[in-house]
Amino acid sequence: MVEPIFPGENSGGRPRPKQRDDATKRNLSMNMIRVKRIALALAAVFLLAQFVQPKRTNPPVVPSRSLEAHVQVPQDVLPILKRACGDCHSSETVWPWYSRVAPLSWLVADDVNVGRSHVNFQDWEAQENPKEAAEHLALICKLVREKGMPPLTYRMLHKESRLSDKEIDAICSWSQSFGPAPEAGEEHHH
Ligand code: HEC
Repeated sequence: MVEPIFPGENSGGRPRPKQRDDATKRNLSMNMIRVKRIALALAAVFLLAQFVQPKRTNPPVVPSRSLEAHVQVPQDVLPILKRACGDCHSSETVWPWYSRVAPLSWLVADDVNVGRSHVNFQDWEAQENPKEAAEHLALICKLVREKGMPPLTYRMLHKESRLSDKEIDAICSWSQSFGPAPEAGEEHHH
């Protein structure tokens, strides 16, 4: 009897279907194990990340330090600033549920802390000098017209922060009374 050169040659030159099935099953279950391991690792990283909580502070509000206490703000403009800008430029941030879930919590807290450090309408006395304060106010018109503020991601999540053309006009006629918008690059003194 002559030995077949290739295994499976007996059954017409192809490996027997049974063998192929076994190999495929083995590969699939190896892949499943890998996928499960990766999923577990990701879940562990996600859980551990929850222990790294950013500071979500709301500093005390001192009315005499507010924008309104230092600058004339028209009746129709103030509520718009509170509504559309307050979460990042006031001391009374409403922290949403996702601000408690890493990694979003880090992004949200960073936005609020950086936003406040530039401009906090409830702590206007923190502005370093009157010239810079006026520049910030003059810049507002440009920012809202060009849809730079509120930031796009925030506008997508907070419908109530979107500004109508009429609101933008009201903000602009007030903002422009502080002078022309400063050129890019001139804006950052810190
Ligand atoms: C989601 C948070 C968020 C909201 C809401 C928001 N801002 Fe800002 N704002 C920031 C951050 C962060 C900065 C810091 C600069 C930057 O990263 O773009 C900033 C910077 C600014 C600055 C200073 C820019 C400079 O160059 O110094 C002004 C003025 C400003 N925002 C006005 C507004 C106004 C007006 C609104 C509402 C119509 C608003 N922002 C809404 C986050 C926000």
